[in-house]
Amino acid sequence: MVEKNKYGQYMTPELITDFMVGLIEHDKSSSCLEPACGEGAFCAKLNEYGYKNITAYEIDKSLINKKFNVINKSFVSSEIKDKFDVIIGNPPYIRWKNIEEKLKSELSGSYLWNNYCNSLCDYSSIFILKSVDLLKENGELIFITPDYWFSTTHAQKMRNYLLDNGYIKEIYHFNETPIFDKVKISFVIFKYIKNKKIKPDIQITKYFSKSKLTKDDLCDIIAKKSENAQYFSIPQFEKNSKWILADVETMNNIKKYEKACKNDTFEDFLEIGNGMVSGFDKAFQLPEKIVLNENEKKNYIKVIKAKNLKQYSFAEVTNYIFVKNNIDEKTFKKDFNDFYKCLLPYKEDLLKRYNYEKDLKFWQWAFLRNYNLFKRKEQRIFCPCKERITNKNRFRFAVVPSQYYPTQDVTALLKKENTQEDIRYIAALLNSKYVFDWLCNNGTRKGDIIEFSYKPVASIPYRKIDFSDKKEKALHDKIVQLADRYSEKEDISDLDKIDNVIKELLKI
Ligand SMILES: C[S@@+](CC[C@H](N)C(=O)[O-])C[C@H]1O[C@@H](n2cnc3c(N)ncnc32)[C@H](O)[C@@H]1O
Repeated sequence: MVEKNKYGQYMTPELITDFMVGLIEHDKSSSCLEPACGEGAFCAKLNEYGYKNITAYEIDKSLINKKFNVINKSFVSSEIKDKFDVIIGNPPYIRWKNIEEKLKSELSGSYLWNNYCNSLCDYSSIFILKSVDLLKENGELIFITPDYWFSTTHAQKMRNYLLDNGYIKEIYHFNETPIFDKVKISFVIFKYIKNKKIKPDIQITKYFSKSKLTKDDLCDIIAKKSENAQYFSIPQFEKNSKWILADVETMNNIKKYEKACKNDTFEDFLEIGNGMVSGFDKAFQLPEKIVLNENEKKNYIKVIKAKNLKQYSFAEVTNYIFVKNNIDEKTFKKDFNDFYKCLLPYKEDLLKRYNYEKDLKFWQWAFLRNYNLFKRKEQRIFCPCKERITNKNRFRFAVVPSQYYPTQDVTALLKKENTQEDIRYIAALLNSKYVFDWLCNNGTRKGDIIEFSYKPVASIPYRKIDFSDKKEKALHDKIVQLADRYSEKEDISDLDKIDNVIKELLKI
């Protein structure tokens, strides 16, 4: 287990090595390199396919299979004079904070690491960079890696290095498909060619199944027959940008949406806050038919849970005990006797809550976070903090009246003082397919789950209305009117109508 953390040892299943070796275009006499060969999964498969000229490195002696000619040295600092036709493998992925001191000091002596990486980059970066360096002209690099480095800012220099020295030929994105036991991250297999002269389109396959991969699935993927996959080609990625795996039409819409918003983002127009933490929701929820005394009537709040949010509106409201007064237990029992009775069965658990380093009474909420924002007397927008997008094409941004509160599973948006647009117009932008596509490709995403914490919401482009322009104002008002109609009748066709008006506004 220690070794696993130390060297990022995750052995590649046979069906993946078979798929990847099958992607090689060079002939069998080509020189191949496996820079981090583990027990030799790729070496075995290369042999099976008839590739005999194989160089392999592995740092951990205990893994080395004598069947293969493996150099028991670190690939990172080895001086390698040869260049290769094919480099293939599954490089070790280790976050900087988990990289051993010895390996860190080795990295600090690497020109490529020092020039293209920083301490936010993970260990696999050096394997990608050094492999590009070691390819012959027209050589192929075929790796399986987590997909993070396609979009993180800290990997931008590395992405640029790849684009400066060649092109990406194929990408297979496996979204939430489990590939390695107990590893829940999205993987990509990519094929990169070292050739600066041409820039052909990239062939992209996005695979969406959550079941364990089979050989048949991979055969269908290759034959472009899989029902769980999307196939498309896009021009080579641009330098200084994320590598977004979206088809040309989606990408064009994203770019046009960004252009129409100029450089305005939600951060400039809305206050954004994640909901409050009771620390034990079940205890604070009031039974439906409870009769409250006068004190209690002033000390509960209406909460909308994430599961009850819809586009523009919401289903159920739950009442929560919410006593902020600094009182002792005796007074609480006397003044809030019904609340006291509700909470008493949970007292022991309530006292065990994380107390955020405060003297937390069992009837108090654990963390009020953005309460001062939420208590404003104005409408607001709520959305779930996380949304699974499988089989969806819109998010759920609900327009919620003043005095309704979010708990930690909900993010709330309230207008900033100078924001002139109607809150229903703002919700319409957020519920539109344009923001959906933008967030699916630019937002904070883990597999099929999009996150709506402060940063990702704040960075969404915002289409400000020029109210002095009569046409723009009319489009804004039309969107508001349609949003009202949708909240009332929930006729799905109205959502498309709203999108069409937004389209006109965006001049797409
Ligand atoms: C993700 S595993 C993959 C192993 C094998 N290629 C496979 O696909 O089954 C990464 C391997 O890299 C090895 N490794 C880690 N750091 C290394 C280094 N600096 N040089 C060579 N190998 C290294 C680990 O011991 C581990 O076996």
